[in-house]
Amino acid sequence: PSSVDDYDISRPIASESGLRQGLTSYGDAHFSLFLRKVFIKSMGYSEDALSRPIIGIINTYSGFNPCHANVPQLIEAVKRGVQLNGGLAIEFPTISVHESFAHPTSMFLRNLMSMDTEEMIRAQPLDACIMIGGCDKTVPAQLMGGISANKPILPLVTGPMLPGSHRGQRVGACTDCRNNWAAFRANEIDVEEIAAINEELAPTIGTCGVMGTASTMACITAALGMMPLKGASAPAVSSARLRIAEETGANAVAVAKVKRKPQEILSKESFFNAITVLQAIGGSTNAVVHLLAIANRHPALQGVITLDTIEEIGLKTPLLIDLKPSGDNYMNDFHQAGGMLALLHTLHPLLHLSALTITGQTLGEVLDTSRFRAFEYSLSIIRPLSNPLYKSSSLVVLYGNIAPNGAIMKASASKDRSLLSHTGPAVVFENSADLAQRIDDPNLPVEKNSVLVLKGIGPIGNPGMPEAGLIPIPRKLATQNVKDMLRLSDGRMSGTAGGTIILHISPESALPESPFGVIETGDLITCDVANQRLHLEIPDEQLKARIDLRRKILLDGDGPWAERRQRRGYRGLYERSVNQAQEGVDFDFLTAAGPPS
Ligand code: FES
Ligand code: MG
Repeated sequence: PSSVDDYDISRPIASESGLRQGLTSYGDAHFSLFLRKVFIKSMGYSEDALSRPIIGIINTYSGFNPCHANVPQLIEAVKRGVQLNGGLAIEFPTISVHESFAHPTSMFLRNLMSMDTEEMIRAQPLDACIMIGGCDKTVPAQLMGGISANKPILPLVTGPMLPGSHRGQRVGACTDCRNNWAAFRANEIDVEEIAAINEELAPTIGTCGVMGTASTMACITAALGMMPLKGASAPAVSSARLRIAEETGANAVAVAKVKRKPQEILSKESFFNAITVLQAIGGSTNAVVHLLAIANRHPALQGVITLDTIEEIGLKTPLLIDLKPSGDNYMNDFHQAGGMLALLHTLHPLLHLSALTITGQTLGEVLDTSRFRAFEYSLSIIRPLSNPLYKSSSLVVLYGNIAPNGAIMKASASKDRSLLSHTGPAVVFENSADLAQRIDDPNLPVEKNSVLVLKGIGPIGNPGMPEAGLIPIPRKLATQNVKDMLRLSDGRMSGTAGGTIILHISPESALPESPFGVIETGDLITCDVANQRLHLEIPDEQLKARIDLRRKILLDGDGPWAERRQRRGYRGLYERSVNQAQEGVDFDFLTAAGPPS
């Protein structure tokens, strides 16, 4: 429409797209549009530009976020894609959250980021929104917010970093950060060497270069159909990454024109596909929490995708990808081996091919139109179904009297497989501070069969459920060459870490009804992965009596619960609203169904 048509107050405003969307702010729709144009024209836009579909681009660049350091170049390439296809690209900021620079934890801020994303997508006059992000919590936060806002959204990840090199061996953040630090703690490498390794672990910008949470979420986003398949793995510093950005810009204009919204694209089947990929890549345990939170933002999927879905699909899905921490290689190897296209062709018989993708094609159509022929190298990184790395359930769900609402373990990353069926005496740490104080104490009553238990690091207990679940091997055992022990907590673990580690135990110990909260040093604990069982070997009555006693203490007039109710600010909101691991650690009022009544 011409500008004159826009101001003809005797007629309705002609088009709903771009600046003409949602004009209710000033009562008189024509005046609202008139005002919007006044302000945006101050930046030099013409009537022609303003008549195009408006593609918002979320800019999460920050000097504190090396995983997002290429966002400016990606924005330039996205704009090219948008504008070559007749759209108008307008960028805007949201908060930026990096793993290492987010106290107390990045997870504490994920829901805040999802609220920022949701509300800014909803508030601004955009026809589609490209969400650029990459670091662990960013991609889930953006999907959660975008699904809730339910305007057309297109995730674009920043891409993984390249590996570095130390004395001829490849190293990369952050599996090798942990391995090398553990070797340093065990006196296997000296201080000069650990300092030299520090220079090489993140040799380029981009997200962690192994199958950690960021790479897992990137693969899952592609499997959900929301992103071009190559977009999951192209390195942050590659030209391919920029071409994917341009393609995403082009896709955004097409998606804006047909108003294809995420709640239409995403179905049960898309999540089945994502979980199949999660299991086949030996993905991060964190992705389980994120996937549940993402699904629970969708009115048709809340409560439909659960821990049991993860378990059921796991039983049918082998681990195929030979990447750290479950295997040996890096994300650029996965990319060069064919990436998600090769993986999805391999997983073809296990996929739901009718699931829709962002371009309007079904996943089956995407795979039919983009063939992949495996070659020797690709088969070494992406194994065929007939020769898997691990036959099924790389991520297992465990239940038992200390985890009635579930717990998670990445069984494929266990270093001592005998621990997958193990009974041993508990050595209990009440919280992270207690652990830090005693773990290296030469008098700690621990032996290699002990089960290390860390409480107090759940969603509420230590706000944000820190990645402290990788309890270090006590120094006196580490120096005796003990490499793995059975370890339990209500917290999370970095997707880049490995070991026989049970996480996300629910209900968390901070809750008055938590059986996990009453484990005592010396109690026998059984973990039986084949039977999905995690059991505290004490009589039911004794367990109940312990819980009753502890509940009284926690709910006491000026105990921790009273304090929580009065806490101010975002932390207060967080502690009063966050749900448990099996629900996604989202705020109850942000889920599709809203808070429990
Ligand atoms: Fe950002 Fe690992 S720190 S992806
Ligand atoms: Mg991580």
